[in-house]
Amino acid sequence: MSQDPLRDAHGRLISDLRVSVTDRCNFRCQYCMPAEGMPWLDRADVLSFEEIKRLVRLFAALGVTDVRLTGGEPLVRRDFPRLVGMLAAVEGLEDLSLTTNGYLLERDADELVAAGIGRVNVSIDSLQRDRFFQITRRDSLAQVLRGLEALARHPEVHPIKVNAVAMRGFSEEEAIPFADFARSTAFQVRFIEFMPLDADREWASDAVLSGEELRSIVDAVHPLEERPREPHATARVYRFRDGRGEIGFVNPVSDPFCGDCNRIRLTAEGRLRTCLFSHHETDLRDPLRAGASDGELELVVREAVWRKELKHRVNEPGFTPPPRSMSAIGG
Ligand code: 5AD
Ligand code: SF4
Repeated sequence: MSQDPLRDAHGRLISDLRVSVTDRCNFRCQYCMPAEGMPWLDRADVLSFEEIKRLVRLFAALGVTDVRLTGGEPLVRRDFPRLVGMLAAVEGLEDLSLTTNGYLLERDADELVAAGIGRVNVSIDSLQRDRFFQITRRDSLAQVLRGLEALARHPEVHPIKVNAVAMRGFSEEEAIPFADFARSTAFQVRFIEFMPLDADREWASDAVLSGEELRSIVDAVHPLEERPREPHATARVYRFRDGRGEIGFVNPVSDPFCGDCNRIRLTAEGRLRTCLFSHHETDLRDPLRAGASDGELELVVREAVWRKELKHRVNEPGFTPPPRSMSAIGG
């Protein structure tokens, strides 16, 4: 296999792969899923651990160094820590991370760490029980916080990030509680702007609470100072001027970072997506199951990556959301 790194037609090098390991989830977050859930994939349609490993090895050989495991909710996939162990052994990977809703972390944290997970993001949209329930439709804040604590017992997992989706009419009141949380714990808090990826299609541009608005709410109480941006970072990170912790804002809608995007995504059923908002995807599962060689798969991947979208068009007239919603893509 050639060692030429993966690149697209806009000159961007691709080094970050998000792998969705299941489309299923035990939560029903408003901004993602309908209350009744989604029609789930058949088990046979979902990539096996061996198939995921084969593809991750291929991507690693093409220059992918960072892999993030997502869902749905990855921890609902049976035996998930075993997959982590299999991927941790893949040559060339420098960073293996996880995005989870945290519900099963109390059960799985020790095993995940032993298997080699490096960094973890936990989604928490409110630190108040009733408001957490309002968003996730599950009364599970206490369970999630126990999971976070279980993870925090492992100093080798670093950083642990807490991600909150920011929605107008809801998250204004979350700004200060999360700032206080960021200041009093070692967790890195980041607000993420609401994107048009909800299955209910309720998204509207006026439902987006911008990172800048949240930043100014926080700054008025706890003055902030911007930190230098790291390459490919999606978050603008600020430190509290008094030195107690930091807080970040991921602003894909108000301040897109597409120009610097180094990411691609693999869905649970093995389709390659080159943008969160792609209308086109490339099936890797059928060739894989039909016995394609690594060289043949490499050609399919290179071709798809070459056509990676220049940018998302969320703010342009005529924008249409992708056919898949967030849980079916993988965050
Ligand atoms: N907009 C922004 N973030 C979203 N997430 C899920 N749906 C949306 C959306 N519509 C986030 C989750 C989680 C990650 C996987 O994606 O909260 O942090
Ligand atoms: Fe599940 Fe994550 Fe979607 Fe919430 S945002 S319903 S936790 S997949």
